[in-house]
Amino acid sequence: MVMEYRLLGRTGEKIAAIGLGTWLIGGGSSPDYSMDMEAIEAIRYAIELGMTHIDTAEMYGGGHAEELVGEAIKSFKRDEIFIASKVWHTNLRYDDVLRACERSLRRIQTSYMDLYYIHWPSDVIPLSETMKAMERLYKDGKIRYIGLSNFSPTQIEEARSYLSTTDVVAIQAEYSLYNRKIEGDVIPYCFRNNLTVVAYSPLARGALLADLRKPMERRVKLLMELAEKYSKTPVQIALNWVIWHDQVIAIPKALQRQHLEENAGAAGWKLTKEDYDLISKTW
Ligand SMILES: NC(=O)c1ccc[n+]([C@@H]2O[C@H](COP(=O)([O-])OP(=O)(O)OC[C@H]3O[C@@H](n4cnc5c(N)ncnc54)[C@H](OP(=O)(O)O)[C@@H]3O)[C@@H](O)[C@H]2O)c1
Repeated sequence: MVMEYRLLGRTGEKIAAIGLGTWLIGGGSSPDYSMDMEAIEAIRYAIELGMTHIDTAEMYGGGHAEELVGEAIKSFKRDEIFIASKVWHTNLRYDDVLRACERSLRRIQTSYMDLYYIHWPSDVIPLSETMKAMERLYKDGKIRYIGLSNFSPTQIEEARSYLSTTDVVAIQAEYSLYNRKIEGDVIPYCFRNNLTVVAYSPLARGALLADLRKPMERRVKLLMELAEKYSKTPVQIALNWVIWHDQVIAIPKALQRQHLEENAGAAGWKLTKEDYDLISKTW
């Protein structure tokens, strides 16, 4: 299995087309230490499979997801891993962003973050203040790239206008066969501006898996037929559809080895335009 790497925005750098999400690894909004060994092994296995882009956040597991990522990556060379984390919306004041980033770096046991997102926009704290802090982190070498998550094109445009020495490179947004809202706004904006779209919940948090148990449903049947045609699984067809455009990559979360292998195998090949269109029309 060979992972496919895609250009990140206009950076000239390539990152894995399928990465690893870590929401619910190490707890929900507070830490859960009961599955630490399994989690660390899963993250390491994902990296071995080429899913070297690890997506985490200070909020996940109340910080514990970042700690687990830090433990897991110890056995790899730091520059072979691409770590993305996010600052929570209550920490968007200038000094709070700087402090939140320091805490995340400590938990991950690293001196820099590859990509640092604003997790959600705030309607209380001015975006100009937060972006100033993001640019400070960039200039200080604490973060290599800036990303925005759950932002509308108008908010993205405003955020970018506050940066003078760098630009936003990636926009994280929910995108799957079940949630295609961003096709109408964020995706066209990102394509026009050469920003990478990082699709979260690309498996619709299990909804797809539940539907795959209804093989008689027309749209499920289509995924199954295409799986047969490409010698892939229906999950791989659904993920390949999500990342069909070069500027879109995905970060499914998985703990089980079999899931990790299946997800890694969703890249490195491509649905034909006809089949891509057929899925788009049917779903
Ligand atoms: N920016 C944001 O606001 C935001 C919001 C939500 C998510 N995210 C990010 O996006 C990541 C992914 O989204 P998500 O965790 O919400 O949902 P998801 O990736 O759509 O779905 C995760 C679920 O699918 C299962 N799964 C994974 N691969 C599978 C496979 N091949 N076959 C069957 N089941 C499979 C996982 O099971 P197992 O774990 O048992 O393997 C898990 O229960 C998150 O972890 C997080 O990093 C970001």
